[in-house]
Amino acid sequence: MAGSSLSFEISSAEGVTVKVLITGGYGMLAQDVIRELESRGVEVVAADKDTLDILDLPALSERLQLEKPDALVNCAAWTAVDAAEENEAGAFLINAVATQNLARAVTKVGARLVHISTDYVFDGESETPYQAADPVSPLGAYGRTKAAGEWAARCEAPDTLIVRTAWLYGRGGNCFPKTLARGLEKNGSANVVDDQHGQPTWTGDVARIIADLLETNAPAGIYHATSSGQTTWWGFTRAIAESIGIDPEVVKAVTSEEFVRTAPRPTHSVLGHDSLVEVGIEPIGPWDQRWQIASEEVLAAR
Ligand SMILES: NC(=O)c1ccc[n+]([C@@H]2O[C@H](COP(=O)([O-])OP(=O)(O)OC[C@H]3O[C@@H](n4cnc5c(N)ncnc54)[C@H](OP(=O)(O)O)[C@@H]3O)[C@@H](O)[C@H]2O)c1
Repeated sequence: MAGSSLSFEISSAEGVTVKVLITGGYGMLAQDVIRELESRGVEVVAADKDTLDILDLPALSERLQLEKPDALVNCAAWTAVDAAEENEAGAFLINAVATQNLARAVTKVGARLVHISTDYVFDGESETPYQAADPVSPLGAYGRTKAAGEWAARCEAPDTLIVRTAWLYGRGGNCFPKTLARGLEKNGSANVVDDQHGQPTWTGDVARIIADLLETNAPAGIYHATSSGQTTWWGFTRAIAESIGIDPEVVKAVTSEEFVRTAPRPTHSVLGHDSLVEVGIEPIGPWDQRWQIASEEVLAAR
């Protein structure tokens, strides 16, 4: 079974195991995508850079011919936002050029591409949530390369599902909550920016959206997989402090001007979920409720 006819239900009725290849398979999001798909009876083949470098087109094409997956979830990316400012060409090679090659190779074997993107394709100047069809206007190098990757994927593989997410945390990566929890435990306080707004999002929830999109054979297009509601890094850190039994009052609010980073950060990185609702997929719940559910698992590995 191939491409847009991917459907878990039909497959199992036919006795065919649906097979999904994951690139960047040791990354933080990938680990929960693997767990979610396997829990739904999907055969998952996960490969990371060591076994499948997405820059290596011949190896990629060969692997796709060998595995013949029904879908490929591309979790591989250049994710170092500040380093991308110093080496935009390097980030572009992985986030755009390799994505284009990958989309072309996936199309050749009739598989469906799920490509992961980011809120950084927007400039964060809108005070209302960005919907999937809103025009992109990245502020920095990372966002530019990810926006180019979206276009490349959709151009080469029109059936692609683009899944934009943001402010990710998960058990399998060195994410913001783990860093802040360690810092709070060591120092007893933290200074955290309170003028950047966003949606802390659990990789387990993004994995559920990806699996739902594939399972329901959702129409090609862009979908926003972020928690509902919004907070600031300061607000999120207060919730993290509470989770580890530390008084949230020790978290002090600072401005972005006091905490300068190499790459500019969007001020209002809040995504709307209309395109998910339109295809009947339930968006992710409020960020604080989802953190309550995920925090024990995520912080256990800090
Ligand atoms: N983390 C966030 O807050 C966030 C927010 C919005 C969107 N996203 C997007 O979500 C996706 C997953 O991010 P993540 O947080 O899970 O990142 P991650 O943990 O850094 O995972 C990315 C993986 O890609 C691998 N990779 C890099 N170059 C590769 C190559 N040439 N070939 C094959 N694999 C390669 C990395 O391997 P190495 O570690 O060995 O280099 C790493 O395992 C990315 O598309 C990212 O842009 C993330």
